[in-house]
Amino acid sequence: MDIKYLTRKNERWHLDGFNLRDQLEASMKTLLYILFLAGAAVSQNIIDLGNKNWTLAGLNITVPGSVPSQAHLDLFAAGAIGDPLYGENDTELLWVQRSNWTYSAVIFNMSQTEDFSTWLIFDGLDTFASIELCNQFVGNTDNQFRQWYFDVTDIVRSCKEEPKLSLNFGSATKIVKEIAENGDHGAPTEEFCCKEYMRKEQSDFGWDWAPKISPAGIWQPSRVVQLNDASPVYVRNALIDIFRKGQMNNIPPDQSQPWVFNVSLDYLGILPRDSSLRVFLKDASGKLILDQPLGDIHQSTRTIEGSIAIDPRLVDLWWPTGLGSQPLYDATIKIIHGEKAISEVHRRVGFRTVVLNLLPVTEEQQARGIAPGSNFHFEVNGHEFYAKGSNLVPPDVFWPRVNETKIRNLFEAVVVGNQNMLRVWSSGAYLPSWIYDIADEMGIFLWSEFEFSDAEYPANASYLAQYQEEATYQVRRVNHHPSLALWVGGNELEQIMLSYFFDPDNPGTLLREYEHIFLELLIGAVYSNTKSISYIPSSTYNGFLSLNFSSTMPQIPRYHNTSGPDYIYADTDTYNYDASQAFNLSSYPVGRFATEFGFISMPSLHSWKQAIPDDQLSMFSDMVIHHNRHYPFGGPVNATDRELSVIGLQEMTAAVQDWYPIPNMQDSVANFSAWCWTTQVFQADYYTSELAFFRRGAGMPQHNLGSLYWQLEDLWAAPTWSSIEPDGRWKVLFYRAKDIFQPVIGHSFYNSTTGDLEVWVMSDLWSPFSGTAKLSWMDWNGKPLSGSRKPVSKTIPFTVGAINSTLVFKTNLRHDYLDLDLSNTLLRVNISDDGVTSNESPKKTNAHTSFFHPESLAKAKIEDPELQVSRSAEGHNFRVEANGGVAAWVWLDHPLGVQGYFSDNGFWLTPGESKNVQFTVKMDWTNGEWAGGVLVRSIWNNTLTN
Ligand SMILES: *[C@@H]1O[C@H](CO)[C@@H](O)[C@H](O)[C@H]1NC(C)=O
Ligand SMILES: *[C@@H]1O[C@H](CO)[C@@H](O)[C@H](O)[C@H]1NC(C)=O
Ligand SMILES: *[C@@H]1O[C@H](CO)[C@@H](O)[C@H](O)[C@H]1NC(C)=O
Ligand SMILES: *[C@@H]1O[C@H](CO)[C@@H](O)[C@H](O)[C@H]1NC(C)=O
Ligand SMILES: *[C@@H]1O[C@H](CO)[C@@H](O)[C@H](O)[C@H]1NC(C)=O
Repeated sequence: MDIKYLTRKNERWHLDGFNLRDQLEASMKTLLYILFLAGAAVSQNIIDLGNKNWTLAGLNITVPGSVPSQAHLDLFAAGAIGDPLYGENDTELLWVQRSNWTYSAVIFNMSQTEDFSTWLIFDGLDTFASIELCNQFVGNTDNQFRQWYFDVTDIVRSCKEEPKLSLNFGSATKIVKEIAENGDHGAPTEEFCCKEYMRKEQSDFGWDWAPKISPAGIWQPSRVVQLNDASPVYVRNALIDIFRKGQMNNIPPDQSQPWVFNVSLDYLGILPRDSSLRVFLKDASGKLILDQPLGDIHQSTRTIEGSIAIDPRLVDLWWPTGLGSQPLYDATIKIIHGEKAISEVHRRVGFRTVVLNLLPVTEEQQARGIAPGSNFHFEVNGHEFYAKGSNLVPPDVFWPRVNETKIRNLFEAVVVGNQNMLRVWSSGAYLPSWIYDIADEMGIFLWSEFEFSDAEYPANASYLAQYQEEATYQVRRVNHHPSLALWVGGNELEQIMLSYFFDPDNPGTLLREYEHIFLELLIGAVYSNTKSISYIPSSTYNGFLSLNFSSTMPQIPRYHNTSGPDYIYADTDTYNYDASQAFNLSSYPVGRFATEFGFISMPSLHSWKQAIPDDQLSMFSDMVIHHNRHYPFGGPVNATDRELSVIGLQEMTAAVQDWYPIPNMQDSVANFSAWCWTTQVFQADYYTSELAFFRRGAGMPQHNLGSLYWQLEDLWAAPTWSSIEPDGRWKVLFYRAKDIFQPVIGHSFYNSTTGDLEVWVMSDLWSPFSGTAKLSWMDWNGKPLSGSRKPVSKTIPFTVGAINSTLVFKTNLRHDYLDLDLSNTLLRVNISDDGVTSNESPKKTNAHTSFFHPESLAKAKIEDPELQVSRSAEGHNFRVEANGGVAAWVWLDHPLGVQGYFSDNGFWLTPGESKNVQFTVKMDWTNGEWAGGVLVRSIWNNTLTN
């Protein structure tokens, strides 16, 4: 281990006159000057291209266009095509993505006089476009993920009429195929090959949860900017880096140091020499808490940079949800020349440090029982925390129609669901800034990735230049968001590289190219722009042997170079589709952090009804088979798409048959609905078991400090790993994940082969937690087990340490109790506290209930729970009661026409027990009628035939 930076931390550092009073005094002195500056509005001629009268033309069709948009969306809006996500429309509409599409509009109100220079600025073009203005060629584009800007001054001045702008988008599927055929990487075998040759959303060519729809268009806001002497520059991108003095990437910083506020603005135009920068910081109430000229100004032909230190007492810390509040500050940065502000930018910022700690496990940690190796956990503001969350895939095939309502609802679910981190998976698209803004407000950490996934990426000079431009733009654009948790080079890359083309003795071209892109270029884009954020090359990473900031390869990767069998280094990304092993704990991966895991389930009947015709509503209908894309990866090589899909669907049906009563209803649609639901129950059951296992790992040698399940949401109706359906409906999984992500939980871990049963309590609170675990043994009628050779109910006091787990009860069901009928045995575990803490508010109590059954529900002696549901007058509150036997997987189902979620669902009830459940309405198209359509069921309903 060779960590050169460590000496730097000990450097003493002083800032002359740095204290609060001086800062305030300085503000007073310059008050008048500032008022003048603040009042002086910067006048720039900016023409938003979104408000223009666009036309979209291609093939045989001309329709009104829009910006930002994509051809499919405009064709759909004009009625020229149907819903691309309905039925088999994705394949029927392949002609759309095989065609060129031209967006054109006349841009009125441009000054065409000599005193103006003119720029075209596109925040995003998808992807291959040829641009013309006034019938003159402007440029070609080939990267969806960067900003494009063109100096069109000469064209505008020479244009005789009102300037007409047109962008001719080529077919990405065709162009990429040509690139592949002309390259030296071997001929492609199918139309959707070769995604790695394009800098475009990789899942546009299909994924195992996504259709193959490749859109094209001006997908991000775009504008014309005109500059003159009064307004000579336009800031096209702004980097703000907030970090602790002395902080270096990937290293926990010294929390006692002052903040450094670094600014670097990318501008277009001609910046007068001797320009300076000034920052104004306001708190959420609008109070100006800081204004100051930046020091250390550096000016180049493209950027202007400056920096100040900020007294930590001036600002409050930002925390992720569940761990504290999210104070945010409005920063205005003005470029000043002479007495005048010539340009300004606004960004909302937060003050926090976040580090992915990959440093060696210390002796002190080993003394606490943590296995040697290296860490893999996040620290916020100097505190380790348990990362609870899921993987975010693109929320729509078509990004331009993803709106704020959709993201707010999704992120509200995340927060209500006790999640604090989302992994923004590559390879969708880099999230727009407004989504980071919402995450900043809600306290959701976004593990962010560059768009590289599951492939060997080309590394010739022109591709490298593309990656450089893209990565630099994105790192600088996103960096000021406190919700940014991490940058990662790409998805599963190291794991694939180590499995398929790693030979340390004979490092071939592919290894060299991997290292060049992910361990030199992308890390360089991060480290050279920011000190505040950590980087790893791949979502699966065995960590580094050394870190040297002055080397071209700052992280020397460990690869397979492990020190011993008991050493633990990495995160895990493991799937097991053999459902018979789902509850075999020895099949679960042991690691420091679980980055991906899961199993597919069906969306509900409600989602299917919106996506396919009624005659297709059955488990193996043509359209269900068509929408299922598991497997494209890892299945038998020579199978057809249809055969692969059937194999995937059979994994789900096998899971239902293994573990639950098999739905067998006379009505075929009701039967389909019951099957869909039961696949969701299995998914929830399996993930609950995995999540509890990973959380228990916090107190084990692996010191597991993160569980991000695959995947949060869906972009169309299909059998996928998602926990939320495409219209926002929560699957059973989302409710159960919400439960198991609570700060303090109890869970029973059972080995069905040996009969060993252990009850554990897990806590991710930051202080020790004392409470009681009440263990109640019962049969399926809810009656306490009786007889001397049966387990007895008891209440066990316990204390669980901070971010830790503890064993509260241990027995063996085969040997300790000779009379036990496992198919008629249940254990309920109630955890309750002494009224102590949660991380956020000391008043909040922690209570948790879980049920354990040693025999699968397929074989258990389930009784009719005689469920009853009643609803209160105002309609949003439901009371569910079990009057017969124990009710397993009680499920409240809301009809179409309302969007929202229940306060609890998928829970268990014992006889005589009732539960009040509230429904939070997000949207209601039924005028309240929906409440009459809420139905209740449990796993017992699977035994009914009608
Ligand atoms: C929009 O453009 C079309 C085609 O160029 C033209 O026919 C139409 O009159 C324009 N509409 C407006 C409101 O400018
Ligand atoms: C345009 O061409 C496509 C592909 O040949 C065809 O499917 C579609 O119906 C045509 N649309 C019109 C409006 O002619
Ligand atoms: C696509 O879906 C719509 C329903 O939105 C349907 O009416 C249409 O016929 C389908 N086919 C095509 C090619 O758009
Ligand atoms: C289609 O678009 C591509 C990319 O802009 C361009 O190179 C090509 O010439 C276009 N083809 C046609 C027929 O317009
Ligand atoms: C936002 O998108 C959703 C679909 O996700 C749509 O139902 C809703 O009408 C949109 N809202 C607005 C304000 O456009």
